[in-house]
Amino acid sequence: MALFIRLLKFATRYRSGIIFSIVLVFITTGLGMVPPYMTRLLVDSQLSNYHTLNAAEQLSVQDGLWHLVLVVCAALLAVRLSVAIVSYVRSMIMVVIGNRVVFDIRQQLYRHLQRLSMRYFETRSTGRIMTRILYDVNAVQQTLTGNLVDIITNSTTILFVFVLIFAINWRLALVAVAVLPLYVVNFLLWSPAIRRASRDAREQFSTVSGQLNDAISGMRVIKAFTRERSESRRFVHEVREIIELNVQAGRARTWLRVLSTLLTGIATIVVIYIGGREVLFGKRMSYGELIQFNSYMTMLYSPIIALVTINDQIQVAMAAIERIFELFDTTPEIQERRNPLILRKCEGRVEFEHIHFSYDPSEDVLNDVTFTSEPGTVTALVGRSGSGKSTLVNLIPRFYDPSRGRILLDGKDIRDLQITNLRRQIGMVMQESFLFAGTLRDNIKYGRPNAADNEVVQAAIAANAHDFITEFPDGYETRVGERGTRLSGGQRQRISIARAILRNPRILILDEATSALDSESEAAIQEALEYLMQGRTTFTIAHRLSTVMNATEIIVLDYGKVVERGTHAELATAGGIYEMLCDVQFRQAVEKMEEHEDALKAEQEGRKDKKGGENKEKGKK
Ligand SMILES: Nc1ncnc2c1ncn2[C@@H]1O[C@H](COP(=O)(O)OP(=O)(O)O)[C@@H](O)[C@H]1O
Ligand SMILES: [Mg+2]
Repeated sequence: MALFIRLLKFATRYRSGIIFSIVLVFITTGLGMVPPYMTRLLVDSQLSNYHTLNAAEQLSVQDGLWHLVLVVCAALLAVRLSVAIVSYVRSMIMVVIGNRVVFDIRQQLYRHLQRLSMRYFETRSTGRIMTRILYDVNAVQQTLTGNLVDIITNSTTILFVFVLIFAINWRLALVAVAVLPLYVVNFLLWSPAIRRASRDAREQFSTVSGQLNDAISGMRVIKAFTRERSESRRFVHEVREIIELNVQAGRARTWLRVLSTLLTGIATIVVIYIGGREVLFGKRMSYGELIQFNSYMTMLYSPIIALVTINDQIQVAMAAIERIFELFDTTPEIQERRNPLILRKCEGRVEFEHIHFSYDPSEDVLNDVTFTSEPGTVTALVGRSGSGKSTLVNLIPRFYDPSRGRILLDGKDIRDLQITNLRRQIGMVMQESFLFAGTLRDNIKYGRPNAADNEVVQAAIAANAHDFITEFPDGYETRVGERGTRLSGGQRQRISIARAILRNPRILILDEATSALDSESEAAIQEALEYLMQGRTTFTIAHRLSTVMNATEIIVLDYGKVVERGTHAELATAGGIYEMLCDVQFRQAVEKMEEHEDALKAEQEGRKDKKGGENKEKGKK
């Protein structure tokens, strides 16, 4: 109920429209009561026994009866036309309001979603989040307009019918109403099963959509490991479960409906039986009134059945609505201060002060990390995989907040800064460059949508991307698919570097920006990156020795702790992890050269040079 009131808050903006359409509901329902009355007039007139009259009698009543027929026709026509018009207006109002409300909710939900922290998205499946915004929100529309209108229509019908049948013959009305509790019993009998099965079916649906999302994103992996069959089997298995649950729900629902209809039939029989006695022996009602009564009775039962099923629908919808509000109630983990500071001019001095961080409380990922990067310097973060390098740089744009310690930008705690202001100072190029579906130009302009075309070209030239872009028939207007399919890894990477260049950030974060590339594009990208690094505070995480060697300072992390720091010259022979890593790199470099020579030899011997390329790839790993 509390949920429902919260939901209604979304509709308060459209209060007057809703009230107006409720008034219209009253009007249509009231008009719906007129036709049975007209039937009664006809039945109770001499029209029903007209053919039993003799010629003289027929002649005397003919005019009056004809007049009655015309009046009834005119009245019925007026009723039907008004009902049609009023229903149209009412239904359009509700359609518009319903869609507006859904639009409002979806918009607010998406805005809220954008504010949530990375952690939220890491701990939930994409499919589940999508289901909420697309599918669950529809349930709101169904409830607010469809069900709400149905409830009002049906309850007013019931109310009107009650008044009228008691007015016609209260004894008969009492008997007819006595059947109603049986409806309630019938409903209570079946609804728990319906609710349970439909809830489970929806849950299962969410699960399946999550898995589907995974499977589609991971199609390459599925194919590479030839898991198509087992993936299909798993999918079929999960989908079959949905069917079973739906059938269960459907079975209970059918029982409910069939028994309700049976009760209606029995009630009609009772009405005819007792009503017939009333007409024949009690003389308390006319035959026309009995027919009118019976018509009203049929109007009574279908709204009751409808109300019963609506309740069931609302239960299902409520589960969806609950999920929506749960998303609304998730507070963004990264909060902005009430009056955040704004750096007008950013120097780019970054200080880490005793930073501690963990994803889950049991395990420290960063442990007392302290160092300072002066404006315009390059800090290289080095360490084994999993040592916390990426985590550390993700703290700078506040993707996460440290659990202890603080990060200062130009001497200000970044938690005191306006988040957009902070992130505007930062450009990131990561190992997996993500491109959005759209044109290459759109993707380069992503961080600065109002950039001029020539700026885009300049950024692309600086990123060594211009040449390959112009080779495409559509140039900058080339459309890339989801995640930038159609481009090679190196090309994607250069697009994302161009994106960072155009953004012109004070602080640059390069997280293994070159590690997924073949050596040819690596050289091009290295050049682009060096251009990009000029005059900015750069944090670079790289496997490649060449990038690290020239860094102003090298920070070596191990298990989240700073274990060594200094320049290449200082660390290369210090006997620590860095030296070890250097040795590994050196060995790899030698291996690579050998492979290269092998490849050259192979080429000379006339074999395919493709093989050499493949070996080269392997050697890098
Ligand atoms: N989103 C995450 N949620 C939970 N644990 C994570 C997450 N990202 C990384 N980790 C863990 O934190 C540690 C450091 O990871 P990361 O910073 O990515 O290391 P690196 O970049 O040095 O390879 C690893 O043990 C990793 O398993
Ligand atoms: Mg990493």
